[in-house]
Amino acid sequence: MKAFVLMIIGVCFPFATFAKEKSSDLQFDSLPYAFNALEPHIDAKTMEIHYTRHHRGYYDNLLNAMQDSSLKTKTLPQIFSQVSKLAPAIRNNAGGHYNHTLFWKVMSPKGGGAPEGMLAEKINATFGSFDKFKEEFKAAALSRFGSGWAWLCVGDDGSLFISSTPNQDNPLMDVSEKRGTPILGLDVWEHAYYLKYQNQRGSYIDAFWNVVNWPEVNARFISLVGNKKPPVKK
Ligand SMILES: [Fe+2]
Repeated sequence: MKAFVLMIIGVCFPFATFAKEKSSDLQFDSLPYAFNALEPHIDAKTMEIHYTRHHRGYYDNLLNAMQDSSLKTKTLPQIFSQVSKLAPAIRNNAGGHYNHTLFWKVMSPKGGGAPEGMLAEKINATFGSFDKFKEEFKAAALSRFGSGWAWLCVGDDGSLFISSTPNQDNPLMDVSEKRGTPILGLDVWEHAYYLKYQNQRGSYIDAFWNVVNWPEVNARFISLVGNKKPPVKK
């Protein structure tokens, strides 16, 4: 019935919303630094293959999977919120595209150190200290069996939490055990580290801290919670 109604609308209003361009998060952004920029922590060959083959593959497959679909007018978070009802090709490739787009941006050749400002305060309040946070994050990344991601997320109530998802899932998906918006993500698929670190996932996680772009992560945190004032006590 729904398909029939959509068909009628399409015939009567051929230039209506169906003619919209794809949503703005369906772009394949340039890598914000050179392939070798994260050396020695992440090697140039891994970066090149990861970005040009793996990420590009998810992106191209996503566009193919969404061809002639009204999903093209939705944002990725909108798609994730109903992903359990969609084809596996959408779930895997939309996740792959979103996750990698975030991953490149939360790393920088000038990265490392510790977060500052609001995010630093929130991390200390939530996990006890930055070192405790790193320990918990590493444990989540290490214990992900097979392929997946470790995340630092902001919940709907502005809380911070660490989680891990399998494959190309992420915490925005309705299939995710813990739901929230990721502000930091670490790819723990073997394609992200095997050339340099082989089976030493722990060494790769330790090296990751040297390239984390904390100003970017802090900006993402503030954009989600910055305007939320604590409730006024009466
Ligand atoms: Fe990856």
